[in-house]
Amino acid sequence: MFKHFDTSAAWNPNQLREKKDWIFEIDSIAGRHVANNIRNIFNSNKHFFDYHRDEFDLDPILENILIAARKAYFGYGISLVRGLPRNLLDENEFKLLIWALGLHLGVARPQGLLSQYISEVRATGMDYRSTSGRGYNSNSELDFHTDGCDIVGLACYNKAKQGGQSLIASSVTAWQKLLFERPDLAEVATDNFYFSHNEEQMPGESPFYVQPLFDIADGSLFGKWNWNRVRTAQKLENIPKLTPIQIECINYLEEILRRPNVLFSTWFEPGDLQFINNHVIFHSRTSFKDFDEQYRKRLLIRIWIAPPFSKRLPDSWRDFWRSTKPGSVRGGIHGHRYTERCKTFEKNLAKMQGMYI
Ligand SMILES: [Fe+2]
Repeated sequence: MFKHFDTSAAWNPNQLREKKDWIFEIDSIAGRHVANNIRNIFNSNKHFFDYHRDEFDLDPILENILIAARKAYFGYGISLVRGLPRNLLDENEFKLLIWALGLHLGVARPQGLLSQYISEVRATGMDYRSTSGRGYNSNSELDFHTDGCDIVGLACYNKAKQGGQSLIASSVTAWQKLLFERPDLAEVATDNFYFSHNEEQMPGESPFYVQPLFDIADGSLFGKWNWNRVRTAQKLENIPKLTPIQIECINYLEEILRRPNVLFSTWFEPGDLQFINNHVIFHSRTSFKDFDEQYRKRLLIRIWIAPPFSKRLPDSWRDFWRSTKPGSVRGGIHGHRYTERCKTFEKNLAKMQGMYI
């Protein structure tokens, strides 16, 4: 099994607490410059697809953002940018700022049923445990999971009144512990599991996808997990029932992720932008309580990115990702509104980034 691979992402929480080279700061002068530019360009009648990346003047912060995204991908799997000019922008302008940054980072990916390329993560009463449930519209505690993209960018506009703590674990560290302590279960984790698309698949597509929890490609380890979607897949027809050893593997993995020497918990502050490389991090968050006033409710802006510098994925990842080629526009949830306009947007941006599509 996979004992030898690049281990830069195999951290324990103390290392993240001690090392600060994954945290980037934006100073207030740079933030103000960019906020002014965004406010001038924002047009409430314009679709996000119709903004061109050269319209924006992001120079004072862009280099930091690009370095932070690369650092997340090739380093610990996580980076944090602090100090986006949240107080100078309303919700929609802040969303445009994240979108504009995304236009420079790679090609944004659709994120769900509505084929949205940027999401507002807020509680709207969604039942996370239903067969079509998604965590980003609920206030529930979430299971550890990976998002369906290479890099996710999550920017905080408002924090909750209570709770909503961000939880992350290195899946590389988790794999090492699983392999060392229970090689029999590690073997199980390299076999296929069935994940539900939670009714977000394109018309005519299979309602589930199949892949192992861990695999390797070009000397890098790749992790994938989502208990909620494995659980909902069990309710679909023609899906093999989880075996006792698979359930033991899941429970053991879940226990590893919650150990104090594996789990890193952190808080989002307004103006924070977190990047996560989904291949080496499993993430989650605690449940939260919102303020009563609408304008104060917890709000994160989320963007899913296929970056031009992505690594080759394992062949076993193909079912969900469609392409495993490095530097390709891959992953995402195409959903039910994936139109010609979406394809044109992706094609044009891929060309600018020199990416495969
Ligand atoms: Fe997520």
